[in-house]
Amino acid sequence: MAKIGTSSRVAAAIVAVLGFVLSLAVVCNGGKTSSFVRKVEKTVDMPLDSDVFKVPPGYNAPQQVHITQGDQLGKAVLVSWVTVEEPGSNTVLYWSAYSKKQKSEGKVTTYKFYNYTSGYIHHTTIRNLKFNTKYYYVVGIGHTERQFWFITPPEVGPDVPYTFGLIGDLGQSFDSNKTLTHYELNPQKGQAVLFVGDLSYADNYPNHDNVRWDTWGRFTERSVAYQPWIWTAGNHEIDFAPEIGETKPFKPYTHRYHVPYKASGSTAPFWYSIKRASAYIIVLSSYSAYGKYTPQYKWLEQELPKVNRSETPWLIVLMHSPWYNSYNYHYMEGETMRVMYEPWFVKYKVDVVFAGHVHAYERSERISNVAYNIVNGICIPVKDQSAPVYITIGDGGNLEGLATNMTEPQPAYSAYREASFGHATFDIKNRTHAYYGWHRNQDGYAVTADSMWFFNRYYHPVDDSTSAQ
Ligand SMILES: [Fe+2]
Repeated sequence: MAKIGTSSRVAAAIVAVLGFVLSLAVVCNGGKTSSFVRKVEKTVDMPLDSDVFKVPPGYNAPQQVHITQGDQLGKAVLVSWVTVEEPGSNTVLYWSAYSKKQKSEGKVTTYKFYNYTSGYIHHTTIRNLKFNTKYYYVVGIGHTERQFWFITPPEVGPDVPYTFGLIGDLGQSFDSNKTLTHYELNPQKGQAVLFVGDLSYADNYPNHDNVRWDTWGRFTERSVAYQPWIWTAGNHEIDFAPEIGETKPFKPYTHRYHVPYKASGSTAPFWYSIKRASAYIIVLSSYSAYGKYTPQYKWLEQELPKVNRSETPWLIVLMHSPWYNSYNYHYMEGETMRVMYEPWFVKYKVDVVFAGHVHAYERSERISNVAYNIVNGICIPVKDQSAPVYITIGDGGNLEGLATNMTEPQPAYSAYREASFGHATFDIKNRTHAYYGWHRNQDGYAVTADSMWFFNRYYHPVDDSTSAQ
């Protein structure tokens, strides 16, 4: 008996030591939790009569003008706008310094949502544009014309430098306005924005007051009429409200924000891909089915092998709900999708995953958690140089306020976390290096509160960890 007692004590000691080692692996070497002190203020939406929501003057003047990439390669731009008094023209007139004026025709749509009726929403794609060229464009032909411009991306290629802005969960509060201004005045400002979902937060209003979709469109026009924003659907785009008879998910979003999903063989506007400069960008939907055999799963399964890193070395994935998140908000909401797709992300060496949803900032180390198979008990994220860095950038400033409560201690995989509003930029230099910086709203425009040099996972897969080893 005594012998058995001793061996069980030894076994218990071994288990305790193992447990201690495992817990060390989880909690030790955690990154930085910022001690930045911010003024605690309630985040409130800007009132309807704010100057940023002003309706442009003139009869049937186009408003809420926004552009996004119109094809998979970057030779097309999709122009959208809203007219209110009458449908008016669907034509976009456009030209560059090297070409005569040309016209492109599009389509108009409207929708009703409970007691709201939308304006006339126009979507017109301009095709066969020259790369790396400034184009001017005019909408509102026949009534009040308004002129804007954009610059097409350079031709896709492995060493093409390009800078993306990153914004998520923007909303339309005073803080949202600060975030957008901070982005616009950032000297490293992006040439296109990767938007990780949750646009207007209109659904926080009674009956999802869609007037707040219109105000958001007018608020963001000052940026998105001039540079494309690449859209990701978030939970605030679902607008599912059976209690008021609105049972078709994503109705306002899909009427207002079109994306070139068919160009990448997708069958729905919630998951798709584009190439831009030296980046291949895959947009996924946290709120569409992603299990085995579903359309999104089958699409992604076929999509990842198509990525040619010799053409586009940088593989970037956008989604709304983060897979790695150490805040006590939306904890593990991204877990089921992680279980489905993380092995693919490691296999295909995704460089970085950007998500939103949690209203704060966090950057992970390169880690994976793909060994678990129900029976083996191996369920701890481990350092993995084939894995992406996961960045939560849901800190756009919407009316729901900051996520300030974090899990403690900071997990080892979390490199930096801070509950402040801001935006980020991902500045690709060539096929091997990209400089990433996060900008909190309280700082000067050129300041990065968190930064990292990314080494490309295909061309330069050496350890780019920022933690003290
Ligand atoms: Fe969200």
